[in-house]
Amino acid sequence: MMDRNADAPWSHFDPEVYVDLNYRTPLEVDLLIVRLMRDYFSGCFGAGVPGVPGAVRGVDVGAGANLYPGLSMLPWCEKIILLEYAQPNVEYLERQTAPAGYDGAWDAFWNELSEVPAYAAVEPRARFSEIVRVERANLLDLDGQRRWDIGTMFFVADSMSECPDEFLRGVRCFMDVLTEGAPFAAAFMKESVGYQVGEHRYPAYRVNEDRVRESLEPFTSELELHDLHHMVRPGHEGIILALGRRNSEIAAP
Ligand SMILES: C[S@@+](CC[C@H](N)C(=O)[O-])C[C@H]1O[C@@H](n2cnc3c(N)ncnc32)[C@H](O)[C@@H]1O
Repeated sequence: MMDRNADAPWSHFDPEVYVDLNYRTPLEVDLLIVRLMRDYFSGCFGAGVPGVPGAVRGVDVGAGANLYPGLSMLPWCEKIILLEYAQPNVEYLERQTAPAGYDGAWDAFWNELSEVPAYAAVEPRARFSEIVRVERANLLDLDGQRRWDIGTMFFVADSMSECPDEFLRGVRCFMDVLTEGAPFAAAFMKESVGYQVGEHRYPAYRVNEDRVRESLEPFTSELELHDLHHMVRPGHEGIILALGRRNSEIAAP
């Protein structure tokens, strides 16, 4: 029996344990991903006007306990929504967006971002609590009614179910929250067999570069894949980072 998304213990997801496992001590691969995203988004938006964002709205889907995708969109957006399904993660994100400012654990990621001028011009803590909001949502229910101009999805479509149909649906639902031409970044654990967070085990669908490419290509006008051979724990074979832009195709229902 394959574990479907609805079968996993999302209501028991422990964000503090997850941050300890993955982000509290910044890993080289995450810092590399942050630099690649920073440079890709900077290219998409041009040099930008530091401190004066346009009317761009951003979304991070399945944000969980990771702020760096949201931080990478910060200079370009007037508003960013973090969509997340697991209630403990929603509460974690609400604390991170409170006026007191996000945890110091995220400073290492901002440091990488702030090496380019458009990011350096932003005061990240104040801006993050000002423009970022959290909403509880199920990725698989997103049907293209609401769309955003830039989006990220990190370790979600591949890390929420063992079923191939739910992986493909997750990717399609993410693509369908993006407006035509929207830049996006999506990351996938390569060949993941699932993952442990504290007492609980969560499912994954095993992807490689070809599967990621096939899933994204129908929806993209520009697509670059980075096959990163870094291991962050046993039970996977690296990370695939996809950077691209949404095309104008409207997916079949
Ligand atoms: C491996 S974690 C990745 C979290 C974070 N984006 C990161 O980069 O570390 C998978 C995330 O997907 C979320 N998730 C699982 N099923 C979901 C669904 N149906 N809709 C939205 N989010 C979901 C989980 O709660 C969790 O936050």
